[in-house]
Amino acid sequence: MALTDHLANRASEIAEWRQDIHANPELLFDVHRTAGFVAERLEAFGCDEVVTGIGRTGVVGLIHGRNGAVGRTIGLRADMDALPIAETTGVPWASKVRGKMHACGHDGHTAMLLGAARELCDERNFNGTVAVIFQPAEEGGAGGRVMVEDGLMERFSIDQVFGMHNLPGLPVGQFGMRTGAIMASADYPEIEILGKGGHAAMPHTTADPMVAAAQMIVSLQTVVSRSTDPLEANVVSITKLTADSSAFNVIPERVTLGGTVRTLSPKVRDETEANVRRVVEGVAAAHGVGVTFRYRRGYPVTVNNASAVRTAIAAARKVAGDDEVITDHPPMMGAEDFAYMLEAQPGAYIFVGNGNSAGLHSPNYDFNDDAIPHGVRYWVALAETALNENL
Ligand code: NI
Repeated sequence: MALTDHLANRASEIAEWRQDIHANPELLFDVHRTAGFVAERLEAFGCDEVVTGIGRTGVVGLIHGRNGAVGRTIGLRADMDALPIAETTGVPWASKVRGKMHACGHDGHTAMLLGAARELCDERNFNGTVAVIFQPAEEGGAGGRVMVEDGLMERFSIDQVFGMHNLPGLPVGQFGMRTGAIMASADYPEIEILGKGGHAAMPHTTADPMVAAAQMIVSLQTVVSRSTDPLEANVVSITKLTADSSAFNVIPERVTLGGTVRTLSPKVRDETEANVRRVVEGVAAAHGVGVTFRYRRGYPVTVNNASAVRTAIAAARKVAGDDEVITDHPPMMGAEDFAYMLEAQPGAYIFVGNGNSAGLHSPNYDFNDDAIPHGVRYWVALAETALNENL
């Protein structure tokens, strides 16, 4: 395959882009340098159109196929933002910005999609249009949702949309994907327990929010174990507990709890919110304390479309061979804001092997540059497969 030799020569240049982005991490929507780096290259490659400032700092490049601006359009998406983590890798291209680093490999995602955009601009071996989408604020800012709300799908007539994330532990050169839910929803209960404080030696004169909080944490464990179908995935984790007082001999007025709920289905997600509320309000009533309950919904479930997954499998097999493509990869309970793009249009989100690197969001993580040619070839093969075989 000519593309392979060609890419071997270009992979080191793409790695240099990756390392440049890695050294200059930016957070959330504040990805001006990275977005500028992307837009400049998309123009230089000969994209037919480059649009900046969509979803605040998102960038979209349009590449028409051999017959020009006719036919279907597919979107290929990368994320550009870093994390508020202090890097400890010690690599020569380590973060130059204290307290910020590319600990999730979005530097690699951006570089690989740029590399693919260059190949697609050069080859144009497809009918229709490829929209390369570079989004800000994947890490907690819902940049994907903001791009969708800014008209991403309508403005560029995107029919299908595809995402890719590196996965530590999956060997380099392997791909993993599945139909249906592949990443979880992430919601955030916040519970404020309002008691009556007083002397710890006279508990009968108080309404102790501390004991109520302890009971709540334990009782919330039954949401998964007693109220959720055992064949469904569900996580309820209470991760924060703060009390008004730090004295040994004072029962505080108020205790707050916080945590996260993860599910793989919209139905379980709705049921879990109701069950968490029921337990919290019931335990508060049993203990004679007041409670305010807030439940913030974060990213929805990332759900892959069956037909799009078949296209992704076909493309991955073309570049990696049948044995290197896991078509029933288990879902993960982390969340991903590509979910919003998949709510807007059907598509598929897949994993690309990052080998034996440190885990995602670890201060010792680094994207594996050896994955670059695999990711680039997948994107190119995907575009050619999706836009040549469904005519
Ligand atoms: Ni990520």
